[in-house]
Formats: sequence, structure tokens, C-alpha cells
Amino acid sequence: MKVVLFDIESHFTPAVMEEAMDLVRETNEYDLTQPEEGFYHFISRQPDYHVEMAFKSDGTVSAKCQCTVFKRTRQCKHALAALLMLRDHILRSRRAKSKSKHENLLLDDVLKKMTVTELRNFISTHAQSHSAFRAEILANYLHLIKKPDYHHLLLDMTPMDKFGTIKLNRNNLKTVRNIIGTLLRQAQQLLKEKALSETFQILEATLHHLYRLSIKVPQFQEQLYTELRLALRIFDTLCHQSMAPRLQHSAFVLAMDISGREGYTFLKGTKPLLLSIEPFILEEKSRLAAFQLAEKKAILDSRQQLSWASIVMRWMRLWDIRSTGKPVKAVLNRLMPDILQELSRQGDHEDVIYSLHFVQTDTYPKTILKGMLQAGLRAARQTGDRALVSRLAYQLSLSYLDTDAWDILLETDHESAQRILKVVKEYYAPATDEVADQLLLRGWSATGDKDELLGRLNAIGDMNLLIRFDDQLKTSHRTQLEDVYATHIYATREAYGGVIARQKLSNIFGHLKSIDLSAGVAEKLKLMDKKNKGGTGPQAADIRGFVFDLDGVIVDTAVHHFQSWKIILKELGADITEEDDHHTRGASRMESLEYLLTRYGIKLTHEEKEMWAAKKNEVYLEAIEQITPRDLLPGALAFLIDTRKAGLKLALGSASKNARGVLKKLAIEDRFDAILDGNDAKESKPNPEIFTKACEALQLDPAEVVVFEDAAKGVQAALAAGCHAVGLGDPMALKEADIVISGLDQSTPTLIIEQLS
Ligand code: BG6
Ligand code: MG
Repeated sequence: MKVVLFDIESHFTPAVMEEAMDLVRETNEYDLTQPEEGFYHFISRQPDYHVEMAFKSDGTVSAKCQCTVFKRTRQCKHALAALLMLRDHILRSRRAKSKSKHENLLLDDVLKKMTVTELRNFISTHAQSHSAFRAEILANYLHLIKKPDYHHLLLDMTPMDKFGTIKLNRNNLKTVRNIIGTLLRQAQQLLKEKALSETFQILEATLHHLYRLSIKVPQFQEQLYTELRLALRIFDTLCHQSMAPRLQHSAFVLAMDISGREGYTFLKGTKPLLLSIEPFILEEKSRLAAFQLAEKKAILDSRQQLSWASIVMRWMRLWDIRSTGKPVKAVLNRLMPDILQELSRQGDHEDVIYSLHFVQTDTYPKTILKGMLQAGLRAARQTGDRALVSRLAYQLSLSYLDTDAWDILLETDHESAQRILKVVKEYYAPATDEVADQLLLRGWSATGDKDELLGRLNAIGDMNLLIRFDDQLKTSHRTQLEDVYATHIYATREAYGGVIARQKLSNIFGHLKSIDLSAGVAEKLKLMDKKNKGGTGPQAADIRGFVFDLDGVIVDTAVHHFQSWKIILKELGADITEEDDHHTRGASRMESLEYLLTRYGIKLTHEEKEMWAAKKNEVYLEAIEQITPRDLLPGALAFLIDTRKAGLKLALGSASKNARGVLKKLAIEDRFDAILDGNDAKESKPNPEIFTKACEALQLDPAEVVVFEDAAKGVQAALAAGCHAVGLGDPMALKEADIVISGLDQSTPTLIIEQLS
């Protein structure tokens, strides 16, 4: 029998073909050999048959079987089956071999002239039972025809049951991915040739299909993402070309359509579709539509909320759109720290800076807020916005004592960096805050301010720190340095005695030798041994008077002071925090205002400061308007009475100019021998002035006086005046006090005197 090998089907009826196909399926063991050019030998074992075939150059092939049916009728199902298998074999080996360029060109030429129907017919004729092969040919050549239908091709090759459910398994997944891979290679090639519209057609179909598959068959998502990533990258490159408006519009529709789907996923390492098309979303209507989509997703797509929220933020800046909905605002507010980090990670510096405006400082914990400001500082440096760099670095250095930020500030704004050191020095007593100490030491060492450096090191009293910095000081401040070491060694010896002291000091001795200070220090120690005997601190047994602070000790007006500042600073555009309370407590009105203005970088003239200070007082007075003796703090009145009974003198030492008015409301003004208030002292606590004056008024030596204070600054002022200090409140914040109690109801005057002795 003789047939055209690539057109076998047209020679036989479907019934005969079917019979042969059945046999092909049954034949699972056979040998197909080519003993000589154009001649094939087919021997099957299971079931047993034997066909010889000769291939002519005109594409026809004649077959001869050994069976009786063939001998009788010159054709049989065996011969036909063998031919089908031969055709399969030839196609396979052809596919395996890469075709020569020349062959490809010829084929391209032929295919270019065909319509899609002709192409399909051609393919189904020549590759009937090989759908993967057929699809591959289509994938390779479909772009050559006028209206290529990629959707159809992709659907066609995706296995589905009769209900339209996609039936992918490991095997056919490979085929599907191959075809898509081929299409994407075509797209890349077309893009290179600047065939933008053709490229888009392929991408449109593949993107749709890939997203559909990855949603419908999630178990293969990871594999499909490989092609999806490639498709997205090509799409992004396409969008960077100068596309015709109509094509841009189609890309917009595609991106909106896919992004809007439930289950749409942002793929790591790729640009979101909507951002690829962003450059040509120019009309207000389209912008609004895209923005609303992002907003909707930011609320609903909980899995990818952050990415959507970042896009919303970006478009708010870029397109100057305001988000109105409360739920979106809530999402943005909640995610703001992460949004900032995300934008920062992506290098979207302008978006970071823009987003900073939306940060509501009192919503986030301190450490998070710090992270946000740091992201802002990075962005500001990248964009070269010096003013912003200096503002953020200032804020970070001052509020968070961030040494890195301070270094940056020193680079950009020397004067401000110096100011920070001044403020921090003023507000953090030595050794009360390790971070503040670190900042100051590093700062002064960078600015070369050696007096300050040594002063602080001495006051902190940590020899390990001194060892770290003394190299810079040993030439200019040799004697002082020797003094500091000698004093420390002397005190350690006094406290621990010989052996233990030697152990504790061994590293210091070693260090002193290495920097050649041993001899000087030893000399100083000798002198000290001669001179120093006994302590000079106030003797507790001599106590003859008590001085009480007012706000926070006798009456709980400290909260009203703080609340009033909060209201005032809000009007000035800043949200003050609990920590600021620590700094304003005990400080005079103007001192407190100065601190807050510096802290929040607000600049005012002298007159304005006076005005705001007065305003604060108005708010405060209104808050305490209703105060009565019932507002005395627990145990306060009893403590005052017992003090008098114990034969001690009493004074009030408050920084408040309102003190007398408050005492009047509390009906205790005549319980004191002397009343000193904010009008009596020029200097604010921690300056000792107010307590020194109180002692004078009581005609007592400061060593005979105990001061009761709720503010760290007050405790420092008392000690600086030479008085004893009892702290009321947080033992950590008041750790410098001789004794700390939680309130006056927790002790008695006699107990205090006993404890101090
Ligand atoms: C102190 C308060 O007692 O008085 C401070 O602790 C306050 O918080 C200061 O700033 C001054 O008060 P006034 O009433 O003079 O504003
Ligand atoms: Mg107080």
C-alpha cells in the first residue's frame, strides 16, 4: 500500500483509522530500524506483526506487511499502524534536531502566507495525535498571521473536563509551561523588533492565562510563577517603550482587570502591573479608578495589605489625590511603620518623605517611631534634601539620643549638633541615662570639646568609659586626668580595703602604666592619704527642718501642669509624650516652655514665648479652679501636722508662681514657717537657689534640712543645696535621692529621720 506519510488520514476512512489507532495503543514493544536510507523495518513483538516500509523523496511511502490480510488485500491495520508510528518517529526526531536556519526561514515564509484556518489545518493534518507538538508549532508561528488567537491556543492546550474545570497534572503542566515559555520567547523577540502591539497580544493572553491557572490550580503556583515572573518583566519593559495611545489604553485595561481580581498576587522581585502602567495613567478619571482599586484592595486584601497601602501612599503623592474613606485611613495609619520600611526598601525615597507627613506621632510606640524617622533620614539623605536631613537628624538625636543621627547632623549642620549636646547635657544628669552619656561623650570627642568630655567622664565615674576616652585627654588634661583616677582609686580602697580593692583596680593599674600616668597618679594618692580623713556629708541626727515641694508632693497638680503643656504644644503643632513630663516636672514655666520648643524644633520670638507661657498658665488655672482641701494627696496633711509635732520647722519650696494661690485653696497656707515660690527664685531647679533660700528663711543650715520632692530636678536641686533629699514616686527616676517613698502616707517624719541616720 502507498500513502503520503504526512497525510495518511486522507487515504482511509475513520473506521479504518480507528482500528489502526487502537493497534498503535496496544503495541507496547517494537523495533523500528532503518537498515538503509529511505528504508524502514518495523518489527513488533507485543502483538506480533512485521512491516517493511520504503520512503520516497516525493513524501510517499509504501508499506508491506507479512500478515495474510495484507497478502490478500494489499492493505492491513498493521501496515497502517506501523506507518503512524513511523510518522511519529520522524516528527519526534525532527523536533529533537534543531532545524537549520535556512529551513526555518523557508518555513516562516510559507507560514506567513497562510491564514489562521489554513495554519490550523496544516498543523492538524501534520501533527494530529500530538497536541503538544501542534501547540508548540502554533506557539512558534501564530504571530506570523494577521489575527492570532492566543487565548484560543492557550485554552485549547489546557486540559479541562466537560464542566470546564482545569485538569492539570505534573505531566501536562510541563507541556503547558513549555508552550507558554515558547510564547514568551516570541514576545521577547517581537519586543526586540519593536513589534509592540504583537508583543502585547502575547502578553495579554499569557498573563491572563497564567493568573487564571495560578488561582485555579494553586498546587502548581510556584512552578507557574517562573513564567509569570518572566511575563511581568516583559510587560514592564514593553511599558517603557513609546506605545501608541490605543495600546497604552489596552495595557491599562489589562493591568486593571488582572489586578482587580480576587486572588491577584504581587510576585516578589517583579513590578506590580499597575506600577508598570503608571507612567501613562494620565487622565484624571483613570487615575481615580486605579486609586480606588488600590484603596479597595488595601482594605480587603488582608494578605497583601501592605503592598496595596504603599501604592495608595505613592499615588496620593504622585497624583495629589486625598484619601477620604475612614477605613483606608485606618489601614494607612496602622501600617504606616511598615509602609515606610517597605518604601524605603524599594528605594522610593520621595514616597518615604511624603509619607512622613502622615505619621501621627502619638499613635506609635517610641521604638517604632524611631524606625520611621530613621527611614525618613535615609530618604532625605538620598534625595539630598539638606534641610530635612538636618531636621530629622536633630529630632532623632534629641528625642532618641541616636548617635548615628547625631553624626549625620554634625556633617550637615554643625551648629545644631552643638546645640543638641548643650540640651542633652542640661537635661540628663551624668549617669542617669547611659545612652545620653554615650551621645555626649561621642559628641564632645568628635567636636574636640575636651573640658566637657573630661567633666562628664568624671561625673559618670565609670572608669571603663574613662579608659576608652582618656587617650584624647592625656596631653591636654593630664593633671585633671590624674586627679580623676586618683580619686577613684582612693575611694575604692576606702570602700573595699587592700586585697579586694587591688583586684578591682588591677585593670586600671595596667592601663595607667600603658599610657604613662602611673607615676603622676601615685603621687596624687600619697597626698590624698595625708589629707583626707572622714566624710563631710550632712549628719542626719542634726535634722531640724523639712522643706516641701508643692506640685506632686502635697497636691496632685503635676498632671494639670503636664496636660496644660500638652494642649499648648498641640496648638503649636507638636504632640508631647509622657517622657517630656520628666523634663518639665519641677522646672519653671519658662524653662519648661524652652525645653519643649527645643525638643520639637519650634522657633518663637521672645514675645511669642511670653504669650504662649501666659496661655499655658490660663489653661492651668482653669484646670485647678475647682481644687479644694479634698485634693490634698493622701497623708499630706497628717505629715505636715506630725512634722510640726516633732518640733521641726516647715517651709514650702516650689517653682510654681501659683503656689500661694494653691495653698490657699487647700487651706494650708498657715502651716508653714516660710513659703518660697516661683517668684522667689531666679533660677529653675536643678539650681539649688530655691532650697538655699528656704534654708535661709528657716535660719537652718542646709545639712539640717530634708527636702521632699517628686521631680528628679528637685532632688538634684536639694542635694546641690547641701540638703537631704526624699524622693516621692518612681525609685528609678529618683534614684539620686537619699530615700524614695511612694507618697507621704507611706512614712512619718520620725521614720524619715531614723532612716537618714
Ligand atoms: C512646678 C511644676 O512645681 O512648677 C512644674 O512641677 C511647673 O511643672 C512649675 O512648670 C512652674 O509652675 P507655674 O505655676 O509657675 O507655671
Ligand atoms: Mg513637684
